[in-house]
Amino acid sequence: MAHVHETEALHHPHGSTPAEGALIAFDDFCFAYDETVALRHITLDIDAGDTVVLMGDNGSGKSTLLKAICGLIHPQQGSYRFDGAQVTEQRMRDASFSKRLHARVGFVFQDSDAQLFCPSVEDEIAFGPWQIGLSEDEVSRRVDDTLALLGIGHLRGRAPWALSGGEKKRVAIACVLSMNPDALCFDEPLAGLDAKTQAWLLGFLKQLKAAGKTLIIATHDQSLADEVADYFVYMGEYHGYGDRPHTHINL
Ligand SMILES: Nc1ncnc2c1ncn2[C@@H]1O[C@H](COP(=O)(O)OP(=O)(O)OP(=O)(O)O)[C@@H](O)[C@H]1O
Ligand SMILES: [Mg+2]
Repeated sequence: MAHVHETEALHHPHGSTPAEGALIAFDDFCFAYDETVALRHITLDIDAGDTVVLMGDNGSGKSTLLKAICGLIHPQQGSYRFDGAQVTEQRMRDASFSKRLHARVGFVFQDSDAQLFCPSVEDEIAFGPWQIGLSEDEVSRRVDDTLALLGIGHLRGRAPWALSGGEKKRVAIACVLSMNPDALCFDEPLAGLDAKTQAWLLGFLKQLKAAGKTLIIATHDQSLADEVADYFVYMGEYHGYGDRPHTHINL
């Protein structure tokens, strides 16, 4: 479960008890893009197996926090640990460290075009498993399994750039799942999807949750949030339901 180390822990299931061995642990994490401060003194722990929904106004730092979880940005002050290991810019330059992190925590971007770059769907899904040095047999098994799991076997030979938005989203999720990560970050997963694909994705997120994955989901969609969240992280000025388990950060 999430724990804040300060008094902002309102209605939190575990109150403000300091976490032992959280999977994801931010401590006084501060980050600015050049002039723009995006994350202010974030202290937040997320335990393995939890589904956490990030909610907040546009520009409140949700996407930036997901990037930090995946080791794509690094703090100017404070620290971030994944499963006890501090994730720093210097350590991420070590290929074996960064590959291990990317294998354990995946990121499904809001914009699938930012994520897909291979000539075929099959190559796209195989890319991550190749990168972490899996054998040819294992890579091919993972590609087959994830194509089946996402119901996109028929897209196997297609060029990702020529797919519809909903098809791209499934391929992007397949790419992340082919790494069999412990934790998955989703940025606005329902944006741009039709009602049928939204319903499918909601069911799929529930399956991942039931399988024990740690999910961190940034969304403006209250019904998605209500369906999957173990608890909420409200960012900035945003005030959601005060009666749901939540913590409040980045004030
Ligand atoms: N690449 C970037 N360069 C400079 N500033 C950025 C960049 N990305 C985000 N920011 C700024 O950082 C702040 C947080 O942005 P972020 O994208 O994390 O917000 P968000 O909560 O995801 O918003 P939204 O709900 O609109 O997706 C904003 O002020 C934004 O303008
Ligand atoms: Mg965003």
